[in-house]
Amino acid sequence: MNMELIKRPRRLRMHPALRRMVRETRIDRTSLVYPMFLAEGSGIKEEIASMPGQYRWSVDRMGEQLLQLSEAGVCSVLFFGIPKHKDETGSGAYADDGIVQSALRQAKRDFPQLYYMTDLCMCEYTSHGHCGILCRTEVDNDKTLEYLARIAVSQAQAGADLIAPSDMMDGRVAAIRKALDQAGFVNIPIMSYSVKYASSFYGPFRDAADSAPAFGDRKAYQMDVHNRREALKEVVLDVEEGADLVMVKPAMAYGDLIREVRDLVNVPVAAYSVSGEYAMIKAAAAAGFIQEETIAAEAAVCAYRAGADIYISYFAKELAQYIKEGKVG
Ligand code: PBG
Repeated sequence: MNMELIKRPRRLRMHPALRRMVRETRIDRTSLVYPMFLAEGSGIKEEIASMPGQYRWSVDRMGEQLLQLSEAGVCSVLFFGIPKHKDETGSGAYADDGIVQSALRQAKRDFPQLYYMTDLCMCEYTSHGHCGILCRTEVDNDKTLEYLARIAVSQAQAGADLIAPSDMMDGRVAAIRKALDQAGFVNIPIMSYSVKYASSFYGPFRDAADSAPAFGDRKAYQMDVHNRREALKEVVLDVEEGADLVMVKPAMAYGDLIREVRDLVNVPVAAYSVSGEYAMIKAAAAAGFIQEETIAAEAAVCAYRAGADIYISYFAKELAQYIKEGKVG
């Protein structure tokens, strides 16, 4: 005996063809970005213990990865540098022959079809592991801006297509924009890590990039995880200062912010699924508790559903393959 139900939401879910047709979120390979760790030296393809399947690459071997990404249909990479030498002012970050600069020059030559973003921060380059120039035990905001501007210009000179500052200093977008413009790089966009929390989800990254702070933490510059209004304030400031794109980071537990930022501003929004998100999925899958493929795909879909236009993920290559095979999309 059928109930007299006029509205039956399940009708739209009965046939796979209709399910696909009425799907509200579609993801495609062109909006994926793959973060990549580049190490000084040669012959290096070193697996990161807490991130199985992720490696530190030397410039002479990075092509192996760039080729695979390109074949999978990933269009963009985000470069992080791991220098051999670290000092107080992170001079490796703006050296003309620095690791990111060298990698950019070669990668642009060998794989010109890819789009190259560079992370702009100092923590991988400073001996103390903080994201700026120290004055006693504090990061000196305004002094750091001079260095960030210099790093940005150096990255652009080496061929970066887009600069992504992740340091969380006040006024950095304006300082970087001004420096880029003065150096003639008026068309190089800035994707600001606007909403970057002081998150424990970055743990594995700090192993990968050898960038854990030698003392203290990053809470005096990265945002308190309890706050959301503050995130909106940061986004508005960055857009006013000239950010072309903004980012929310981490992604998985921060879907509320992705949505709020998407609704607040009219610039593209990127979501960065960080190292801890990757490590958790990998570890749980290796233990047989979850299925890596479907969970990685679901996490990506959810970031897009929350409002992300761009998804930065260590699973980018796999996601591109799933999309190609029609397993997700
Ligand atoms: C540099 C930077 C970090 C990440 C991106 N850029 C580390 C940090 O802020 O400590 C984290 C990325 C990840 O966890 O995957 N400041």
